[in-house]
Amino acid sequence: MADEITLAHADERDLTQLAEYQAIGGYKALRKARRMKPQAIIDELIASNLRGRGGAGFPMGRKASFLAKGTGKPTYLCVNADESEPGTFKDREIMLRNPHLLIEGCLVTAHGIESQNVFIYLRGEYLDVFEVMHAALSDAREAELLGGVTIVLHRGAGAYICGEESALLESLEGKRGQPRSRPPFPAVSGLYGSPTLINNVQTIATVPPIIEKGGAWYASIGPETSPGTVVFSLSGNVRRPGNYELELGTPLRHLVYDIGGGLPAGRVLKAIIPGGSSTTVMKPDLIDTPLDYNSVAEVGSQFGAAAVIVIDDRACMVQLALRSTQFYMHESCGKCTPCREGTRWMTQLLRKLEDGRAEQSELDLVLSVADRVLGKCLCALGDFAAGPVVEYVRAFRDEFQRHIDEGGCPFGGESSLEGVFAPVDQHTHSPVAEVPA
Ligand SMILES: Cc1cc2nc3c(=O)[nH]c(=O)nc-3n(C[C@H](O)[C@H](O)[C@H](O)COP(=O)(O)O)c2cc1C
Ligand code: SF4
Repeated sequence: MADEITLAHADERDLTQLAEYQAIGGYKALRKARRMKPQAIIDELIASNLRGRGGAGFPMGRKASFLAKGTGKPTYLCVNADESEPGTFKDREIMLRNPHLLIEGCLVTAHGIESQNVFIYLRGEYLDVFEVMHAALSDAREAELLGGVTIVLHRGAGAYICGEESALLESLEGKRGQPRSRPPFPAVSGLYGSPTLINNVQTIATVPPIIEKGGAWYASIGPETSPGTVVFSLSGNVRRPGNYELELGTPLRHLVYDIGGGLPAGRVLKAIIPGGSSTTVMKPDLIDTPLDYNSVAEVGSQFGAAAVIVIDDRACMVQLALRSTQFYMHESCGKCTPCREGTRWMTQLLRKLEDGRAEQSELDLVLSVADRVLGKCLCALGDFAAGPVVEYVRAFRDEFQRHIDEGGCPFGGESSLEGVFAPVDQHTHSPVAEVPA
């Protein structure tokens, strides 16, 4: 098993302190990078085969190599720290406990793409992270580590859609956070119409170790197609939830049972969501799946943002589908019709099913509405909403049927989801702060 990379030494030392970070070799990679030609940095990133940790898993070095050159415009680096999907909380931990690693990653990457301007787009609700990052940035600036690069820490206003890269750019420009149609892609025309590289927090935080030890070193860790480590956010019905940095390819069983301590006493595993609420549910027979991009895709789901949610036998899968869809309905930006209308239709139908008011035909109607959303939207949020619904119905159809036959929820409705996703306020459709007693 590989050692931790982005959370290395964070247990023994207070890495929010610049001196502590430097004591473990912090900012050494930056000094090395600044002696390298920009293209040599991109070459190392390509050799490492580091795949973006925001969800889609696109190779970072290749994305950086797409940036338009010779345009006469500035080049921008944007770090996506919006982290808002139910189940995800890895970026928060990296920024809270190892902020200088992210700052060093920004500076090394900026050198690689010849950029003088970095924006970190931070989820608005992460006030504690903002304070830690702000202090670390001030320390780095005072220690003259920025080398002429400007790093702006920008707080979002609480919209999940602003994690979608083109909506993030709109929001940074001061406009309403809604996705842009593509092409052009950000590598050609991104922030203020200039070539822009956008990467997730963990992607950028992995850059310094790669430059320090070489792309070949990183590529040798874990599976060839998905090398390296990732911070898994383990949540739901598991005894030891939390963030665990592990090699990609780690079997799901090892994460849930050996590391997470298994399920609460007497409970039985019912399902697993492998990568955050946008990824499709897996049944317990897939518990030996290796957790990497390709292996999870091979069994019909998605690796996503490595947010593994464990669900036990108390959970009502209709209620789970409903709660997930309520979230996407609330967060839909409304720009395109299939998503704006489809998420509302799916929510209404799932609510009727859950309450035992649905007619038989409405079970297939949910699938029909999902089909009108899938692949027909301007951004991936539509698919994030509809894809999981299709799989909840396909994999647990008998449970949906019971709600119709028995005229209500056989599992006790909302209370069946204790510990899985935050509950949703029925009027505002926003997550409520506390689990009701
Ligand atoms: C609705 C939606 C929300 C997203 N939210 C995030 C997010 O919070 N953080 C993130 O890194 N990527 C998020 N993404 C993915 C980004 O669009 C983009 O692919 C990512 O920031 C690229 O970085 P990476 O290549 O390092 O993964 C989201 C995508 C969609 C469609
Ligand atoms: S898919 Fe949804 S979130 Fe994305 S642009 Fe369309 S309405 Fe907005």
